[in-house]
Amino acid sequence: MHDFTGLPFYVEPMLPQDIPGVIEVEKLSFPTPWPASVYRYELQQNRDAHYCVARPQFNIQNAGRNWDLLQRLRHWIGGNGESEDNTPPLIGYGGLWMIVGEAHISQIAVHPDYRGKKLGELLLVFMIQRAMELDAEIVTLEVRVSNTIAQNLYRKYGFQQVGMRKAYYSDNNEDAFLMSTDRVTAPAYQEKFKKLETALWQYFRSQPLSIFLPGE
Ligand SMILES: CC(C)(COP(=O)(O)OP(=O)(O)OC[C@H]1O[C@@H](n2cnc3c(N)ncnc32)[C@H](O)[C@@H]1OP(=O)(O)O)[C@@H](O)C(=O)NCCC(=O)NCCS
Repeated sequence: MHDFTGLPFYVEPMLPQDIPGVIEVEKLSFPTPWPASVYRYELQQNRDAHYCVARPQFNIQNAGRNWDLLQRLRHWIGGNGESEDNTPPLIGYGGLWMIVGEAHISQIAVHPDYRGKKLGELLLVFMIQRAMELDAEIVTLEVRVSNTIAQNLYRKYGFQQVGMRKAYYSDNNEDAFLMSTDRVTAPAYQEKFKKLETALWQYFRSQPLSIFLPGE
């Protein structure tokens, strides 16, 4: 289990009440978004599916004596910061299917206002960790050949191209790269993963909170 204390974001399992927030980010992220019914099926019927969501955890205490930051945080909290039940907004999500020793990442997306702040990486770390807990041997996924941003993220975590799916995406017939990690149970992968995870946590804890606010 991850300890998100002191981080600007946290990740937790997706619940049915998260679906409207997921759909909002989904529509901003994919040309052919999945409808809510797919997520309902995934959460309620598909025992092999494991989904998570990410939320910001900016709080006034983290701002210290930085008046400018305090001002902006108060505005953020008072404005679009929280829903009626005080849950911070949903700003990213991801999911995987466990299929006989293979964890296949089915979805990962970050709200456009929060991209480039290492939230996608945090979600990927969470999912790889989940895959390891579920005794996955490898982690796989498909990605558009044009989606170099996502490919960079996956390569950073040891994914390599192992195949190609022709005209995989129905909206524009684009091909997909099939990517896979080496065995995640192997000591070499575990060591690489641990190093990347530690560096990510250090990054989050060493940066001023202000850079993680939307629009920065
Ligand atoms: C792909 C996606 C999840 C990445 O999330 P993100 O929060 O913006 O990415 P991060 O800030 O965590 O960056 C992690 C890594 O991704 C890569 N990356 C991120 N932004 C990049 C950019 N603008 N250019 C090149 N590489 C980039 C880098 O490898 C980066 O690692 P680094 O910071 O050490 O260089 C996000 O762009 C997204 O939601 N895209 C739309 C949906 C999508 O394409 N999903 C993937 C489907 S397969």
